[in-house]
Amino acid sequence: MIRPILTFPDPLLKQKSAPVTIITDGIIQLAKDMAETMYDAPGVGLAAPQIGVLQRVIVIDVAAKNDAPQLITVINPVVIHGEGETFEEEGCLSVPDFSANVKRHERVVVKGLSLEGQERIWHAEDLLAVAFQHEIDHLDGILFVDRLSPL
Ligand code: NI
Repeated sequence: MIRPILTFPDPLLKQKSAPVTIITDGIIQLAKDMAETMYDAPGVGLAAPQIGVLQRVIVIDVAAKNDAPQLITVINPVVIHGEGETFEEEGCLSVPDFSANVKRHERVVVKGLSLEGQERIWHAEDLLAVAFQHEIDHLDGILFVDRLSPL
């Protein structure tokens, strides 16, 4: 089910989300809805608080438009290592009609749980690395506009 996406300055976007303790049918349905909502938007990532659910769940798909989908769903994602620096243009489904360059790590290692509850490690670089950092920020109530350095 496609869910409405909250937009800035909705106060829920500033909240810290809670870790998922049990992967219930509700969490599985949430992840499905998030993917559907992301593809419909369309966007390359979505975090649960963006649809008003304060739980640590993200979905990402950075595959090019004409390529097969490469959906990544992570429960309780944590960046355990970051290196390098990149400064790419970012946008956000919760901040419509605005984009800006944001300083991020170029490569990250992310640890989390798959939807099946298996602990997994993702090694990401470039666009995927940025997407992980952007979506994990949402779980801490941080929007990309909060990371813009003052001129
Ligand atoms: Ni976003």
